[in-house]
Amino acid sequence: MGDETVERMSFGDTLKNVGKRIDGRRAEILLHHGGTLPQAMTYALSGGKFFRAFLALEGCRLHAVADDAATDAALAIECIHAYSLVHDDLPCMDDDDLRRGLPTVHKQWNEAVAVLAGDALQALAFDLMLHHRMGPHRSEAARVLARSAQRMVSGQMQDIEAETADEPLSLKSITQLQSSKTGALINWAATIGPQLAAQDTSALNSYANALGLAFQIADDILDVEGDAATVGKAVGKDADAGKATFVSHLGLDGAKRRAGELVQEACDALSIYGDDAETLKEAARFVITRTH
Ligand code: IPE
Ligand code: IPE
Ligand code: MG
Ligand code: MG
Ligand code: MG
Repeated sequence: MGDETVERMSFGDTLKNVGKRIDGRRAEILLHHGGTLPQAMTYALSGGKFFRAFLALEGCRLHAVADDAATDAALAIECIHAYSLVHDDLPCMDDDDLRRGLPTVHKQWNEAVAVLAGDALQALAFDLMLHHRMGPHRSEAARVLARSAQRMVSGQMQDIEAETADEPLSLKSITQLQSSKTGALINWAATIGPQLAAQDTSALNSYANALGLAFQIADDILDVEGDAATVGKAVGKDADAGKATFVSHLGLDGAKRRAGELVQEACDALSIYGDDAETLKEAARFVITRTH
């Protein structure tokens, strides 16, 4: 008889385990290198939620990708994400001093170190993806990562341009901007499993489209409702910059309602996986209840 009393791990504990797995692999790669650059890369890769790594690992599990390949794909997307944040925080971008509750990389070291650590993290991601352990579909997976990273950068460009635009962006434009800025990396993470297994990515793609949008709406809500100590980064920046966001368009309640609908949409997209997708559904719910 099966043990029906086995308790599911909380999603917070699931993310902690993902963090340990990624930290372990990162240490194998970076720790034996001395000097400022690997130290700054390690710093930039530490202390986040590892949400994108989780998505990559879970999609790989559902599509029976080997553990070593799954771990390296998950680390690769965290490298791209970490690089995007290190550069996003620079004085010429968002000019932030706090990230994940600690000084940003350019505050801890200096701007040159932050630029170079970001550059090296991006290269490391492709190094990981193009290793033969990633299997026969690695070059296509790496190309899709390259395109996703370019979309993230183009979203960042639009975001910067919007700050000085005469008219605030419409809700439609913000949705488009988000699908590049935040959505592209989340999408790659959620679909890398079926991608490496040369299987159908469409269910996870639909899940990720809704999830990515909910994720950015939650980020905008935290910018209004959160406090810096809990969120781990400065808050109130969007309003200060006069930026149009989901909250400025929909109001707090409207933004929360929209995020809730998107979480439902994300969960509905997973029906082909049956009970096996329970953790991905928890992840979707976590996105809008998170406090950091
Ligand atoms: C922050 O991403 C930047 C956005 C795209 C909104 P996360 O909220 O996943 O940041 P970490 O990795 O947990 O610090
Ligand atoms: C940046 O968006 C997302 C990327 C780095 C692609 P934000 O500027 O809103 O992210 P936070 O709020 O600084 O984490
Ligand atoms: Mg920014
Ligand atoms: Mg920022
Ligand atoms: Mg933000």
